[in-house]
Amino acid sequence: MTEQNLSFIDEVRRRRTFAIISHPDAGKTTLTEKFLLYGGAIRSAGSVKSRRSQKHAVSDWMEIEKQRGISVTSSVLQFEYNNFCINILDTPGHQDFSEDTYRTLMAADSAVMVIDCSKGVEEQTKKLFQVCKMRGIPIFTFINKMDREGKDPFDLLEDIENVLGIRSCPVNWPIGSGKDFKGVFNRHKNQIELFNDGNHGQSIAKSITGNISDEKFNTLLGDVLHKQLQNDIELLDVAGDSFDLNQILNGELTPVFFGSALTNFGVEPFLKSFLDITTPPKPRSSNLGDIDPESTNFSGFIFKIQANMNKSHRDRIAFLRICSGKFEKGMTVNHVQRNKKIKLAQPQQFIAQDRVIVDSAYPGDIIGIHDPGIFNIGDTLSQNQSKLQYSGIPQFAPEHFARISTTNSLKRKQFLKGITQLAEEGAIQVYKRPNIGMEELIIGVVGVLQFEVLEYRLKQEYGVYITMNRLPYRYIRWIEETTFNRDNFSITMDTILVEDKDKNPVLLFQNEWSVRQIIERNEGLILRETSI
Ligand code: G4P
Repeated sequence: MTEQNLSFIDEVRRRRTFAIISHPDAGKTTLTEKFLLYGGAIRSAGSVKSRRSQKHAVSDWMEIEKQRGISVTSSVLQFEYNNFCINILDTPGHQDFSEDTYRTLMAADSAVMVIDCSKGVEEQTKKLFQVCKMRGIPIFTFINKMDREGKDPFDLLEDIENVLGIRSCPVNWPIGSGKDFKGVFNRHKNQIELFNDGNHGQSIAKSITGNISDEKFNTLLGDVLHKQLQNDIELLDVAGDSFDLNQILNGELTPVFFGSALTNFGVEPFLKSFLDITTPPKPRSSNLGDIDPESTNFSGFIFKIQANMNKSHRDRIAFLRICSGKFEKGMTVNHVQRNKKIKLAQPQQFIAQDRVIVDSAYPGDIIGIHDPGIFNIGDTLSQNQSKLQYSGIPQFAPEHFARISTTNSLKRKQFLKGITQLAEEGAIQVYKRPNIGMEELIIGVVGVLQFEVLEYRLKQEYGVYITMNRLPYRYIRWIEETTFNRDNFSITMDTILVEDKDKNPVLLFQNEWSVRQIIERNEGLILRETSI
């Protein structure tokens, strides 16, 4: 991190911490790379791609990652742009994404939603959007791949509103599309920005800007495109939602931008507007009320635990989101949940997959702390307050379930230790039938890849072989305890009642019909999609 002799408050206010959410292949990696290009963190585009193949040499902690050619874990990137200090939280984008993807969103202050203009809103985007909506964070839409033929921009806005149920307000409107995609029109500034060059997206695209009424654009765009743009703008002004900062910051309205991450057209105008509109770290809710990021007491919470990131270390790293105060290397803090003081001796920051030891960090930043097995997801660390607890991180709904047991009963102790640790890391969720001991465990995961991870890690790290039987359940609901009548509970044949790790009653369903049935049969019953 660059030290610029800024005050603590300045450092907090220049932080922007966000996640990029999208369906695989919408262009998240390409857009991230272009942000780095514009931030000067890389000299030419293409390096993130080559990182993909390089990555295995660096984070070689799991063979599966190699075999699949994907990153199973999410990482954090920090870079500077126009005096902003930006933290991008990477969310695994493969079909087999895990609960970590959801949890990462708990550490973000806003989200950028990348949509492929030829596909519209896709499945994974929908799921990630729901988590952002639950948190009420601002969501910025970047409609990507405008250099390709896609859906009509007005249809795309309708798609966002119909599928996601959020109103939209275009800030930048595309000028042309496909081969004729020339640039964007900024409705705030009433300004056209036309791009050229950019060396096929490898370097920063040059642009010409000016007022829409400027004669030169008639020549530059040609009559047809210029007219079409004017008509589109008129229509938007009359029919579209107007820009409302409060609604945007509350996650009720999404500002929309168009562009092409590949050619860089529209990338920088988006980045600039996004950074202007979105906020620095906001107060976070806790048991002691909202905690102001600008307060001097250092505090934060753990949102992710990752084991064995580097095989030669064989360590666990806990990812801490700083919520208030300045972090300094070697400081002693309260580990609230364990009621213990700990020294943060070797804190790390993650520049892509590289680790660097960090001397100081600020609210909005993410640091990695060595974890000798003492942290759980959701734990709070606080310098001065030993009772401060940030609101917990929910367990998100797994969609795949399996019954597992060990093939060797002599290894039972190791088996349970492995399962417990993996559950603490949040890689899996563990359920059991009430009144049946630990003989029969049901594992729930968000992405099926986690089953392979589980099997692999139990074998590699605990020397345990397991048998696994996939179960037909696809939906989980946590029962609101106060609405649960245990003695007179009516259940359907294809549904089971289990308990989660905190002994909360949970139902596993095979289809949505059964969910509705149970609600109908049990008057007053309230079911939730997350644990809290
Ligand atoms: P992801 O992280 O969201 O999964 O997507 P990623 O950036 O890897 O992009 C997926 C594919 O879409 C890549 O092509 C990428 O080059 C392409 N792409 C991304 N943004 C744009 C864009 O604005 N316009 C166009 N036309 N394509 C875009 P690929 O064929 O899978 O990889 P590659 O062979 O290009 O490396």
